[in-house]
Amino acid sequence: MAIKDVVKEKYGQAALRAVDGQGNSCCGGSASCGPETWDPITSNLYDEQQKAGVPAEAMLASLGCGNPTALAELKAGETVLDLGSGGGIDVLLSAKRVGPTGKAYGLDMTDEMLALARENQRKSGVGNIEFLKGEIEHIPLPDNSVDVIISNCVINLSGDKDAVLREAYRVLKPGGRFAVSDVVVRGEVPAEVRQNMLLWVGCIAGALEEQEYRSKLAAAGFELIDVEPTRTYDVEDARQFLTGQGIDVDAIAPQVEGKFMSAFVRAGKPGRAKECCEPGCCS
Ligand SMILES: C[S@@+](CC[C@H](N)C(=O)[O-])C[C@H]1O[C@@H](n2cnc3c(N)ncnc32)[C@H](O)[C@@H]1O
Repeated sequence: MAIKDVVKEKYGQAALRAVDGQGNSCCGGSASCGPETWDPITSNLYDEQQKAGVPAEAMLASLGCGNPTALAELKAGETVLDLGSGGGIDVLLSAKRVGPTGKAYGLDMTDEMLALARENQRKSGVGNIEFLKGEIEHIPLPDNSVDVIISNCVINLSGDKDAVLREAYRVLKPGGRFAVSDVVVRGEVPAEVRQNMLLWVGCIAGALEEQEYRSKLAAAGFELIDVEPTRTYDVEDARQFLTGQGIDVDAIAPQVEGKFMSAFVRAGKPGRAKECCEPGCCS
């Protein structure tokens, strides 16, 4: 089965579990999924104020690995696009931050997730939101139309990360910001260890190594690139899953230490929209 079909099936089922009122406590790692399990990747990402401001169902459907809306500096009147918006949690939070003069788009390819997100929008009563069906490798928005791109644990799922970053660059306005949470690998890790850890995290297509991420962003045209770890995972987090895969967890522990993380990845599209106070701008 193609990567995209695996991803659609997996997140289609996750959306239906959320509709049934069951939590999804993991970004994708099969061993640690379940409403009763505390998951080190997806748990406790949002503060009480954020939780109180969105429908409980939207919070229950959260499958991210960070909190990009808390880290991105969203301003009133801006247009935000969330790549792989899932149940819509970050779109709802962004829409509140940019206010009625701004707009928040969510983009997702999975029908069940789009239905869940639209229902969560309806319950929230927030109007300045639009959920679009499509792929993050082919963003259905015009060039230079978005101020900020956010995303939460989705780019690692794409089999064509160069296309995602090219498209993100294309739709951003000059001076626009790329501000996403993603799983990132830091440094060299033996292929088998990497594969098993990423399977635990749920990165079906594989996460990028930090330097590779930086290079790909630069190749797409971005500047001011920064990768800031927000959570680092060790073998204890993944012990149960890895043991189930027949892996000697203690033996691989040193190769895992400090290498797998959720990170806040930031970059900017060069150029700046002219402020109206600049000469020639308003004439
Ligand atoms: C890990 S979930 C994260 C959802 C959401 N960002 C959150 O924080 O709860 C991944 C989501 O990305 C969507 N997705 C994955 N790959 C995609 C792609 N190539 N194009 C569009 N959507 C994609 C899935 O359908 C799913 O809803």
